[in-house]
Amino acid sequence: MSAVERKTACVTGGNGYIASALIKMLLEKGYAVNTTVRNPGEVLLLLSYSQVRVFAVFLPFRSDDIAKNSHLKDLQALGPLKVFRADMDEEGSFDDAVAGCDYAFLVAAPMNFNSENPEKDLVEAAVNGTLNAMRSCAKAGTVKRVIITSSDAAISRRPLQGDGHVLDEDSWSDVDYLRTEKPPAWSYSVSKVLLEKAACKFAEENNIDLVTVFPVFTLGAAPAPVARTSVPGILSLLSGEKHQQAAATANQINKLPSLKTLAKTRVTQLNLAAVFIYFSGDETQLEVLKPLQSITGSVSIVHVEDLCRAEIFLAEKESSSSSAAAAAAAAGRYICCSFNTTVLALARYMAGRYPQYNVQTDRFDGMPEKPRVSCSSEKLIREGFEFKYTNMGDILDDLVEYGRALGILPH
Ligand SMILES: NC(=O)c1ccc[n+]([C@@H]2O[C@H](COP(=O)([O-])OP(=O)(O)OC[C@H]3O[C@@H](n4cnc5c(N)ncnc54)[C@H](OP(=O)(O)O)[C@@H]3O)[C@@H](O)[C@H]2O)c1
Repeated sequence: MSAVERKTACVTGGNGYIASALIKMLLEKGYAVNTTVRNPGEVLLLLSYSQVRVFAVFLPFRSDDIAKNSHLKDLQALGPLKVFRADMDEEGSFDDAVAGCDYAFLVAAPMNFNSENPEKDLVEAAVNGTLNAMRSCAKAGTVKRVIITSSDAAISRRPLQGDGHVLDEDSWSDVDYLRTEKPPAWSYSVSKVLLEKAACKFAEENNIDLVTVFPVFTLGAAPAPVARTSVPGILSLLSGEKHQQAAATANQINKLPSLKTLAKTRVTQLNLAAVFIYFSGDETQLEVLKPLQSITGSVSIVHVEDLCRAEIFLAEKESSSSSAAAAAAAAGRYICCSFNTTVLALARYMAGRYPQYNVQTDRFDGMPEKPRVSCSSEKLIREGFEFKYTNMGDILDDLVEYGRALGILPH
């Protein structure tokens, strides 16, 4: 593809799980991609030898930055990929990454669930950070559409009695309920609602075409060598005899003498991932699944490939209904969900398919077998989108493979 025909997309948070899959798909489709990370470290240093428009700033880097960014070098083999430093907390930080882009995919988001001040660190940070990136898009003057990756946390966290509820894009999570009752990850849901409202207002005032996508639990393989969110969350259902052995391996990697050694010996991405020590059978992660289902009435899942396909589909759609966003509040909102299920059903599937991982289905005794509430992607499907992964088993099998590759699960 010639440089003239090639479209350019910015993807924020390139070391993240979903962003890494999106970057790969965009490059495979012939896009030029600009991505941002907070600490480019070694990636920036290496790219700056070969690329002209990349920041020439070298920042002190940490071993976890090297590990988190390592896939970006590999993705460069697929097409033009530039890495920029940007922080949502800094005004104007995204200006260079967004300049000249046709589309901006705002995927990065604060995810520090353990903050002692979640209103500041999650809610304010998400709203202000999104507006920072949107201001950069407005300044660029080339961005045809902004696609925000939100979450079903902006849709489904509301008190609903009984069962049989089907949530669509008219549904909003209840901020007052969340701030009063403070269920698990309440501030994350509040952040998603408020950032969307702020982004819609900004888009309306600045004539920006905005689409907001609401993925549910996103699973399956991605290029990211580290997965910190949904992947270890669902894999916490699985455990295994080799668990201790895997932990010992990670500890050894952690004790590697120096960062230089780490880079020189070209430790594989899989080993680098282990530095983060996310393992299966994680009690903390596992304990979140139960209350989460109690609030949302389901555990809903989508394959990461389908999410990325949906985001690109919505970006490219010429007559997206988002142009009417100012008039119709729900016009630019799209839920991305291919399967609504329960934690008990997930555990039963895993137990049957992977007996070696000692899934404790009995810890979910008494929990509903079927979802009480479902998230519907009818609107996305009506627009012409087709999900590739509609079978729970296919999504979970790919997740298990990815978990093994990352070292989260023993082989
Ligand atoms: N995974 C899911 O199941 C799921 C479901 C629904 C919605 N989502 C949404 O999808 C998006 C990506 O999620 P993910 O699962 O891929 O998470 P992830 O792997 O943790 O990625 C989050 C990214 O955001 C970046 N980030 C955080 N704070 C930042 C800041 N202040 N400035 C710049 N970048 C910042 C992180 O960079 P650092 O590495 O520097 O921290 C990281 O690259 C999020 O908006 C999330 O809410 C995810």
